[in-house]
Amino acid sequence: PVRPVLPPDIKARKGGQPMVMLTAYTTPMARLVDPHCDMALVGDSLGMVLHGLPSTVGVTMEMMILHGRSVVRGLSKAMAVIDMPFGSYEESPQQAFRNAARLMAETGAPSVKLEGGAHMAETIAFLTARGVPVMAHIGLTPQSVNTLGGYKVVGRDDEAAKVMADAKACEAAGAFAIVLEKVPQGLTGQITAALSIPTIGIGAGADCDGQVLVIDDMLGLFTDFRPKFVKRYAELGKLADAAIATYAGEVRARAFPGPEHAFADVLPVKAKS
Ligand code: KIV
Ligand code: NA
Repeated sequence: PVRPVLPPDIKARKGGQPMVMLTAYTTPMARLVDPHCDMALVGDSLGMVLHGLPSTVGVTMEMMILHGRSVVRGLSKAMAVIDMPFGSYEESPQQAFRNAARLMAETGAPSVKLEGGAHMAETIAFLTARGVPVMAHIGLTPQSVNTLGGYKVVGRDDEAAKVMADAKACEAAGAFAIVLEKVPQGLTGQITAALSIPTIGIGAGADCDGQVLVIDDMLGLFTDFRPKFVKRYAELGKLADAAIATYAGEVRARAFPGPEHAFADVLPVKAKS
């Protein structure tokens, strides 16, 4: 059997071939992601992508556990990383440990991700020392949208030194990897070069040890949301729209179902041998 990827394997790949990560929120998506990716992120972006929430602030532990279990069932090779939702870890290292342990125990994911740099370092160290591998997430941290005032690039001009300090604090605290979101590309390169742990970028340019995207974005499942940093590898939303329109037209015209989709009233007679 394939040995599943674990956090030390990810850490050891610093500076090597870029690592590949996508979000997954369900078993079928996890099955599609698993053969091609090193990591599957059960991102709290699921609040917006799947549940129609206005931000990730409303995502709960229960939502993360339900989707985490679904994703872990669909993985045999790629490592699951599960996001700690807003409000589940910021209060104290103890609160963070209690909820991280619950996420790991109830989903089977071998690692968690949390947002925050230097101010979360004590928590990252507390978790890591107690058997919880932590991926840190700095730069744009969407759970702080209400204090940041939007989803802007983080780390330009005067902010660059703070983002670098956050990265170093997460490394020193024992994070096995770090997500850089919407960080300018030059700064990304400097951080990647300065750290001994892998950087995973989203909207952070090419100079990372790996890349992550929200799968629904790169598959084009949305029609309205098109951030600059997302490359659309497919237009599944357009395909789905066309398929649904065809189905609706065929039902209204009584063209579907055809006889081939229906069940006969009489069983076919078996040929005699
Ligand atoms: O929730 C998420 O999908 C994420 C990625 C964008 C890194 O945190
Ligand atoms: Na997230």
